[in-house]
Formats: sequence, structure tokens, C-alpha cells
Amino acid sequence: MTASKRIILSSDHADIELRQTFAKHVQARGFEVLDIGPTTSESTHYPKHGQAAAERVVSGEFDLGILLCGTGQGIMMAANKVKGIRCGVCSDVFSARMIRQHNNANMLSMGARVIGEGLALDIIDAFLDAEFEGGRHATRVDMIEAD
Ligand code: RB5
Repeated sequence: MTASKRIILSSDHADIELRQTFAKHVQARGFEVLDIGPTTSESTHYPKHGQAAAERVVSGEFDLGILLCGTGQGIMMAANKVKGIRCGVCSDVFSARMIRQHNNANMLSMGARVIGEGLALDIIDAFLDAEFEGGRHATRVDMIEAD
């Protein structure tokens, strides 16, 4: 476990309590955590929250990001518009591990209306515990990142 990693979290209004649970969970595991909200359930726009977190990962301020919206899809799409972000939506533990090991994902997105809290926390653990394998996968990730 790389406890020195800094993790940023954000969401839209779909389930701010679940996002706050994620933040507590990740912090309890020993990671540095910043939860950039939103802090109320007032309807908001997922693109701005996904982009805000993504920019702080790409800048190097944070190592990894965790996003949440209703499906996980919209906020993932917004994050992936930021160059250097590789964000995948996960609803299973295997994919969460593989997007780190093979795709060197730097952001994880989940759907609050898709999965329950227990599975979501297992997905987060798998994502945080996995490491990029490099090698042939680095060649492929480089192809994603090429202009
Ligand atoms: C908001 O109602 C919902 O559209 C959003 O949370 C997300 O599911 C979009 O992808």
C-alpha cells in the first residue's frame, strides 16, 4: 500500500453522503485526502466537478482521483476531457484493479445509482491497492496519451 498517495474526491449532487463516506474510508486507510465537494445536495452540473478534480490530478497536486455521479459516466467523460487523465467507470472490483494495472488510470469513477456502498468501498480499495505494471502496457498507455 502506498500510503503517501494524495487522493482528491468530487461528485455531483447524486449522492454527496456516499462521496463523504468514500473520503472517510480513504483517509482511514492512511491516504492524504481532499474532498472538493459539493457540500449540499442542490442540483449541480457534473462536468465542472469532474473537470475541477481532474485538473488537480494532472497538475500533480494529487496522485489519484475518485469521482461519483448518478451513473459515474458523465463525470468520467468530463474528467477524460482533461489531457493526461485516464478515468474509468467501475462497477466491479476486477475492473478497478485492472484500470490501474493495465491502463494506469489516475481517476476512478462510480455510479451512486448503480452500486451500493459496500461494493463501492471494495472497488476503491482495489483501485488504491493496485499498481501500474508498465512494460507492454506502458506502450499502449503512451499511445493513448500521444497527441
Ligand atoms: C444527474 O441527475 C445525473 O445525470 C448525473 O449524476 C450522472 O448520472 C450523469 O452522468
